[in-house]
Amino acid sequence: MSATVVERNKEARKRIVSDKAAKISVKDLNLYYGEKQALYSIELDIQEKEVTALIGPSGCGKSTFLRTLNRMNDLIDGVKISGDIVIDNENIYKSNDVIKLRTKVGMVFQKPNLFPMSIYDNVAYGPRMQGIKSKKELNRIVEESLRGAAIWDEVKDRLKTSALGLSGGQQQRVCIARAIAMKPEIILMDEPTSALDPISTLKVEELIAQMKKDYTIVIVTHNMQQAARVSDKTAFFLSGEVIEYDETNTIFSMPKDQRTEDYVTGRFG
Ligand SMILES: Nc1ncnc2c1ncn2[C@@H]1O[C@H](COP(=O)(O)OP(=O)(O)OP(=O)(O)O)[C@@H](O)[C@H]1O
Ligand SMILES: [Mg+2]
Repeated sequence: MSATVVERNKEARKRIVSDKAAKISVKDLNLYYGEKQALYSIELDIQEKEVTALIGPSGCGKSTFLRTLNRMNDLIDGVKISGDIVIDNENIYKSNDVIKLRTKVGMVFQKPNLFPMSIYDNVAYGPRMQGIKSKKELNRIVEESLRGAAIWDEVKDRLKTSALGLSGGQQQRVCIARAIAMKPEIILMDEPTSALDPISTLKVEELIAQMKKDYTIVIVTHNMQQAARVSDKTAFFLSGEVIEYDETNTIFSMPKDQRTEDYVTGRFG
């Protein structure tokens, strides 16, 4: 790693000027799959109750980076990580409480991954695992979470039927409800609409816009319009580095780096 890359990354990070303290602060983060380095000296401050979009061509490290935020890479053999990720003043790689971390930092995946059980049981699954037994309390959490995910009206009369009988777009919103039911503070979304039709995509985007009142959201997307519509900040990744990180408006209208401009205008990737 040349000194210039480190300096440049630090410079990029400083450009995000905000009076708010960072919810997530990433410092000099490097990640290797065996011998192969996938992330290079990432420096990124993510603000509370904002939507941060991660964009960049296939294979540039977006999903890898997203997974470092709730230590999902710990599940992959041969992964080595150096550097710091601090969430609410706690270095998540120095603490051993991964369960607590994954409760605080929820995740929604590219394809809806509901369990083959009822809609109700899917949403109640996490709270039950946390030891909540009261039926009244579970009913409340299920309703509140489904409302929070803008899917309550569509499913309230079929809560006890299989979740797999829902459309893809409905299933993805139930996945979001399942994440909300754990009362997370941060929600990571890896291309949450790439398997959805345009109408379901718009519904999920509207939902994300509403959700940022309550949650800090980090979203990976290949859809430039989506990044522009839903996010406050955007980070452009290329070959495992953050090339540019700024207000979304700036990234799309006045990027500072030629490579960012080429990417957001569709000239490559
Ligand atoms: N489990 C793994 N083992 C080894 N290498 C991996 C693993 N997962 C990802 N990689 C490699 O790390 C690099 C970054 O992959 P990653 O999945 O983070 O990219 P991405 O930006 O999410 O791409 P896409 O847009 O296609 O989803 C790629 O070169 C990929 O091949
Ligand atoms: Mg990916």
